[in-house]
Amino acid sequence: MVIRWGICSAGKISHDFTVALKTLPAENHQVLAVAARDLKRAQEFAQKHSIPRAYGCYEDLAKDPEIDVVYVGTIHPHHLSHGVLFMNAQKNVLCEKPLAMNLREVQELIASAQNNHVFLMEAVWTRFFPVSLEIGRLLSQGEVGELKLARADFGVPLTHVPRAVEKELGGGALLDIGIYCLQFVLMVFNGERPESIQATGVCLDTGVDEAMVITLKFSGHRLAVCTCTISAELPNEAVIVGTKGTIKVPAHMWCPTSLLVNGVETQYPVPEPTLPLNFINSTGMCYEAEEVRRCLLAGLKQSSRMSHADSALLAEIMDEARRQVGVVYSQDSQ
Ligand SMILES: NC(=O)c1ccc[n+]([C@@H]2O[C@H](COP(=O)([O-])OP(=O)(O)OC[C@H]3O[C@@H](n4cnc5c(N)ncnc54)[C@H](OP(=O)(O)O)[C@@H]3O)[C@@H](O)[C@H]2O)c1
Repeated sequence: MVIRWGICSAGKISHDFTVALKTLPAENHQVLAVAARDLKRAQEFAQKHSIPRAYGCYEDLAKDPEIDVVYVGTIHPHHLSHGVLFMNAQKNVLCEKPLAMNLREVQELIASAQNNHVFLMEAVWTRFFPVSLEIGRLLSQGEVGELKLARADFGVPLTHVPRAVEKELGGGALLDIGIYCLQFVLMVFNGERPESIQATGVCLDTGVDEAMVITLKFSGHRLAVCTCTISAELPNEAVIVGTKGTIKVPAHMWCPTSLLVNGVETQYPVPEPTLPLNFINSTGMCYEAEEVRRCLLAGLKQSSRMSHADSALLAEIMDEARRQVGVVYSQDSQ
């Protein structure tokens, strides 16, 4: 059965997500409509991707009765209002990460999904990669013994990108890329709440975090370290250390195509794109799209691999890390 997608915004990630959908069977996924703030840009996007319908405002997409699920690809300060717009129109929603600016907003989105009886998932695409599924299998079967430590880093120079540095556009390393390190650690620790969170960071003149190091302590004397920066290229790897071995995710840990288990490497290539992409390995968003389809066909309102509770815990930890480093958004005082 075909799932009919609507795309909210004609920006960079919306382009890549639409290319990713095209790698999947057309009888399973159809992009039926795109909406942007400007009709001309929506029409250009529609033409480029052979999308039948283009709308010049998001409200018109919300009113389209033939859309099953909306992909929200706007910048993060708008995720709350756009998510609620579509869910109030009884649309299922896959929303880009971070799901919202803080825990309060994430809880509003979850409440909206529950009240409207629709599906909602934060687009933490990494969790649906074959590498992530293999990590889950290795950990559950004790292949590296008992888990002791996890480490992840994500650093790329982004200070030239306005939405990465301007506070009102939701700038800051943690919400943009550090979230991938935290979600990795929480995946490895099976959604467990850490016993303690310690964050250190440096901020730009705009008041957002340029770099952060977050140390998490989990039950049973287990630790995790997350490092993110928007001013330098880091190794961009992740490592899981157990009592009997090591799992390493080489760069790029947020969209991984290989895995080393005790030094033995296996490759997991992503599908080839049909158009040039804005971001590396973006066709790997096909895995999260498949998860959305699976959930919708099963009548599920959330995915167990990236649940509402997972999104809430991520937001809660990011709120605490920002509090310790002193990064405050206008949304925090509402
Ligand atoms: N999964 C991933 O790998 C990945 C990669 C990059 C980004 N992201 C996430 O995707 C989201 C968008 O990132 P992007 O790089 O695609 O951003 P972008 O291209 O700069 O902007 C995306 C869209 O947001 C809307 N927008 C931009 N600036 C706005 C403003 N000042 N006021 C109101 N609306 C504005 C526009 O929608 P219209 O087209 O309707 O005008 C724009 O096309 C972010 O939340 C980011 O965290 C995810």
